Amino acid sequence: MTNSTPLIDGRDIHLSYGQTPALRGVSLACWSGESVALMGPSGSGKSSLLHCLAGVLKPDSGEARVAGVRLDTMSERERSQYRLSRMGMVFQFGNLIPELTLLENVMLPLQLLGERTAEARRRALGLLDRLEVADVSERRAGAVSGGQAQRAAVARALVHAPPVIFADEPTGALDTLSADKVLDSLLRLAHEIGSTVLLVTHENRIAAHCDRLLTMRDGALAAQPAVTR
Ligand SMILES: Nc1ncnc2c1ncn2[C@@H]1O[C@H](COP(=O)(O)OP(=O)(O)O)[C@@H](O)[C@H]1O
Ligand SMILES: [Mg+2]
Repeated sequence: MTNSTPLIDGRDIHLSYGQTPALRGVSLACWSGESVALMGPSGSGKSSLLHCLAGVLKPDSGEARVAGVRLDTMSERERSQYRLSRMGMVFQFGNLIPELTLLENVMLPLQLLGERTAEARRRALGLLDRLEVADVSERRAGAVSGGQAQRAAVARALVHAPPVIFADEPTGALDTLSADKVLDSLLRLAHEIGSTVLLVTHENRIAAHCDRLLTMRDGALAAQPAVTR
């Protein structure tokens, strides 16, 4: 990978669910360290695109690369291993394992990657602290508020300092104040570690925090002027 390799690289991606076309030839590139907001009406294909780019779904045709590595030709097992090591993901809800504590949830990616328990714990706690949920780190994920759970989900997506972060309406279920805080933290911490972020959101106010804005309509990207900060 060179400096001119996009961190997220989708080329002419097509995807249908049975007879329903969801993506009709989407190409996009996100560059090192940038944050890109993805907007568009419900059903326009945002989640489908993220899932194809992250290798959760295999597109019907087209190519998806993350950090220079092609995902659409990998086996499911290879894709999930690659996702674990090179990506962080946050969804609207259901990110965490409810039976585990917030701390255990955030330690999990590091432990799966072979990190020592003491070091995983240290890093997870540091991040939970930055996200202002260190005080509830020993509570089970199923027993904390939605805002606290999403902060921990952000910590879990960032804890292994992945080069790429995919976030799909990560604060869609939160009130405005909590959502703003969680998104600010996500973007700030991702910027610190130099991660590239692709963030699906309905909120103009949140998209405005990103370096660039893309809009989807009917399974395709619409042309869009750059957002200036
Ligand atoms: N699992 C699925 N099965 C069938 N159709 C789906 C499925 N997921 C999404 N779709 C359809 O694909 C299109 C794009 O959906 P989606 O990617 O979820 O859009 P968005 O995230 O922008 O709301 C919509 O028409 C939606 O109804
Ligand atoms: Mg969606």
